[in-house]
Amino acid sequence: MVKKISVNTIQKLKNEGQKITALTAYDYSTAKYLDEAGVDIVLIGDSLAMVALGYETTHSVGMEEMRIFTKAVAIGVKRALVVTDMPFMSYHSDVATAVKNAGEMLKVGAKAVKVEGASDYILEVIRRCTQSGIPVMGHLGFTPQYLNTIGGYNIQGKSYKATLEILEQAKKLEQAGAFAMVLEMMPEESAKYITENITIPTIGIGAGRYCSGQILVSDDIFGKFSDFTPKFARKYADLHLLIQNSAMQYIDDIRNGRFPSEEEIFKLTEEELRQLNIHSLQ
Ligand code: KIV
Repeated sequence: MVKKISVNTIQKLKNEGQKITALTAYDYSTAKYLDEAGVDIVLIGDSLAMVALGYETTHSVGMEEMRIFTKAVAIGVKRALVVTDMPFMSYHSDVATAVKNAGEMLKVGAKAVKVEGASDYILEVIRRCTQSGIPVMGHLGFTPQYLNTIGGYNIQGKSYKATLEILEQAKKLEQAGAFAMVLEMMPEESAKYITENITIPTIGIGAGRYCSGQILVSDDIFGKFSDFTPKFARKYADLHLLIQNSAMQYIDDIRNGRFPSEEEIFKLTEEELRQLNIHSLQ
């Protein structure tokens, strides 16, 4: 029996000074491989809007799509903590709807949800979800769902004042009951300062070396998504080329009669063949 990672395990890792590892996944097989590799958190990020669905921003993905991807990933994961993103506008109209939608994600297998921002309203959503048994991960710094109000893919917390503001937000998330938070795209000194001044773990993405853990979009690290690669994403493989080259070989093999081969086909028995020949002669 595998020992499942819970929100308590994530806090324990931070307390013991062990780095928390997290990656995104959107489908069953990838989730299974990441889990088998030993990652602590698998996030169904709403980055799937761009990476898996080809949309321009995360704004276009809705509850129905997130539910389907969350369900597939949750089936693939046996050990890691499955966290799913609440899509844009699924938790903004009113708290009751937010809790209901977050609950939908747990019903399909997520063990926690992630929300962006730290307004009074978002803090209330976090409180009410947590009270209802839905663990919540926060997300501060660059928050893609606020892209249009931020005004672009801009690094956050670039001054001491901005760093203190994010720290204030981080403390509020912690008080509201968030079990961890993502810190995205900020100078590493800012992320370090925030991490050292709160109790719950911080998971960095483009936030330097001193967060409690790190997360990246798996399609970036495997080189599968090629539209753009952020500066902070390390590429461990080149699936883009691997897939393209494999497809080109396949096409070539078909066109040149090398596929399928003798080993890749099914055959009739001699008896059936004899009958067929008799039949076709009639
Ligand atoms: O949507 C996403 O993939 C995220 C990250 C933290 C990578 O929110």
